[in-house]
Amino acid sequence: MSQATSPATARLEMPDGRTVELPVLSGTMGPPVLDVRKLYAGAGVFTYDPGYTSTASCESKITYIDGDEGILLHRGYRIEDLAARCTYLEVCYLLLNGELPTRAQLDRFVHDITYHTMVHEQISYLFRGFRRDSHPMAVMIGVIGALSAFYYEDLDVDDPHARMIVTHRLIAKVPTIAAMAYKYSIGQPFVYPRNDLDYASNFLHMMFAVPCEPYRINPVMARALDKIFILHADHEQNASTSTVRLVGSTGASPYAAIAAGIAALWGPAHGGANEAVLNMLKQIGSVSNIKSFLEKVKDKDSHVRLMGFGHRVYKNYDPRAAVLKASADEVLAELGHRHNPLLEIAKELEKIALEDEYFVKRKLFPNVDFYSGIILEAMGIPTRMFTAIFALARTVGWIAQWNEMIQDPQQKIGRPRQLYTGQKERPFVPMEARG
Ligand code: ACO
Repeated sequence: MSQATSPATARLEMPDGRTVELPVLSGTMGPPVLDVRKLYAGAGVFTYDPGYTSTASCESKITYIDGDEGILLHRGYRIEDLAARCTYLEVCYLLLNGELPTRAQLDRFVHDITYHTMVHEQISYLFRGFRRDSHPMAVMIGVIGALSAFYYEDLDVDDPHARMIVTHRLIAKVPTIAAMAYKYSIGQPFVYPRNDLDYASNFLHMMFAVPCEPYRINPVMARALDKIFILHADHEQNASTSTVRLVGSTGASPYAAIAAGIAALWGPAHGGANEAVLNMLKQIGSVSNIKSFLEKVKDKDSHVRLMGFGHRVYKNYDPRAAVLKASADEVLAELGHRHNPLLEIAKELEKIALEDEYFVKRKLFPNVDFYSGIILEAMGIPTRMFTAIFALARTVGWIAQWNEMIQDPQQKIGRPRQLYTGQKERPFVPMEARG
């Protein structure tokens, strides 16, 4: 049931003199929302909003962002508190169920997730179809899409129990598949999950263990990675989440919907930015090159962007970037990287950009991708795995939003309209008359 209230009405004056009344909806937080659902039926007009800069595509109770203030809440809790005081699986439970778990609820949830960490043995053969140098995101799109072929017959998306199993499977298996994609790319044998390890430690184990010698998990790395997972867990209706909702709205397999979300995340304007940031920092090479690099960024003809900067919603410091910036020093020191040249370039780059009129005027601040790659690289995670790790962490957000959409009585197949500017109807031209 919708929880939005409609305390007001807006009046729209049409060019032909008619007045159209539109309900103004209020949520619990955030700006009021003009309800245009009946606009076409009542007034014969569409709204035009490429990029959805002013469009609320759904009602949601999961995540709230105040982009002007730089605030991110999951189910009402600040991201800073969750990152400092929870484990990733605790945050997953919160996103999925709306409340923080009790100890007993968390133990049960952790059990349910670890129970599903293995993948069907047949899945390992799928990898052989890929070139060894394939990008891990390409492999993940393929293999996670293929889960829809493994779990098809028994899947009734209207059955809450079936949805719960889908949810557990995805949160459990995506790290296994991401680690397999890495192992395949370097020619090492796949490493089976270990259910006695916590979620982040198990991922490190699957990434870095080899059969011939013991692998010791560094608890500092495991905790830092878990925090990175928390910071990427959900972010309301971004491009990949909207993709998952759109695909899911057709009744398609949720595994296919998540594969589509991974595809949307891959782009450098979205989750692919963490990989692009690191490549950019390496290209800049030294603090002395920052000024000339920023000149290039400000020159529109160069088409160079400062990667990890700017955000559609945040017109202030992204709170996730603030947490990561603070933990970068901490983690790097613990890992013995006291003078990390990339971190030095990143900090100086941020300092100079935040004082530069170009960035100030456009309200461009560091986003979550600006510092995450530096931490991941210090952990020994290859650059090409960065976006795969983002996808792994975001899987819970995608599946929480998919679950919410399926249960929403107002949910319809997503089907935007358009402003058509092509040819008007015209008579067909036979081949001999063309030219
Ligand atoms: N570097 C330089 N200029 C920028 C940047 C940037 N990173 N970001 C925005 N701008 C400029 C634009 O050129 C534009 O300038 P103009 O008004 O003179 O034309 C203005 O700021 C507004 O930018 P838009 O592209 O219209 O903003 P939009 O909301 O569409 O884009 C986006 C947001 C895609 C994130 C953009 O800021 C960007 O490309 N950033 C770099 C990539 C990145 O870090 N992506 C990760 C985002 S976070 C995430 O998805 C997990």
